[in-house]
Amino acid sequence: MEEFNKLSRNQRKKVMHQEKWEREAAAFKEKKQEQRRERRRRHNQRIARGEIKPSRPPPNQIRSGHQIVVDMDFDDKMSEREIKSMCAQLSHCYSANRCATQHVDLHITKLHEKSSSRFTALKSVHTMWAKQYIGFHDKEYLDMFDKDKLVYLTADSPNVVEHLDPEKAYVVGGIVDRNRYKLLTLKKAEEQGIAHAQLPIGQYIQMATRKVMTVNQIFEILLRFIETNDWKTAFVDVIPQRKLKENAPGHTEPTEDNNTDSSSNTSDEN
Ligand SMILES: C[S@@+](CC[C@H](N)C(=O)[O-])C[C@H]1O[C@@H](n2cnc3c(N)ncnc32)[C@H](O)[C@@H]1O
Repeated sequence: MEEFNKLSRNQRKKVMHQEKWEREAAAFKEKKQEQRRERRRRHNQRIARGEIKPSRPPPNQIRSGHQIVVDMDFDDKMSEREIKSMCAQLSHCYSANRCATQHVDLHITKLHEKSSSRFTALKSVHTMWAKQYIGFHDKEYLDMFDKDKLVYLTADSPNVVEHLDPEKAYVVGGIVDRNRYKLLTLKKAEEQGIAHAQLPIGQYIQMATRKVMTVNQIFEILLRFIETNDWKTAFVDVIPQRKLKENAPGHTEPTEDNNTDSSSNTSDEN
């Protein structure tokens, strides 16, 4: 005590502060740990209720055997901003595949200079991507699969996909064009002599907008269909509320949780 009294006012304050911290530190740490545990519990409950997706591969994950190709042969048709958006969409596809209960073999074909350098800029991220969830190829899909096994997915096709055949490879056009290039992928499929089809969106839900989706939406719909074998669930779970017609099946009033409308979200452009 004598020692303490000899200290200056500031030094005494410091000592008292230190003693207070030592008394309360254990309780403080315990409180923080409990808050973290509670956050984790709530997060897991939301995953269990299907409100959010897990950020890690589920423990029971299996390889579905389905083949999905993203055809990136469209660099010359996109602006810098659209290329950036396209690369963000590929990142979303990777994450969705990694967290799916049944993941697919995702092939990115014909990555050209501009998209490739965008990915190089994101190097630290994409070099860590696990190969079982995404594969980058210089080759064309025509050099990887038999012609009669390929189906180009395109909203402009008169044909409609009924189910997904694991023997086939479904090609998605890796382009963000805001509908500038009408019939682009349909014409490409016709010229290459490969099958084409649109997803059966109109049979299950009513859209407020055109039925043209972004690459990651199409990819997530395919994943969800593989998991559930139910197109309606796949569409309702993936297509943003604002694209559904009001009062149509699947439409609910926007809430903070389900309103995904965001002008800064570059992965939501088609
Ligand atoms: C933004 S769209 C590109 C639209 C582009 N004008 C075209 O001709 O395909 C990106 C890709 O998603 C796929 N896609 C979008 N909506 C689709 C639908 N309703 N059915 C099937 N595929 C669709 C197509 O593969 C399309 O190339």
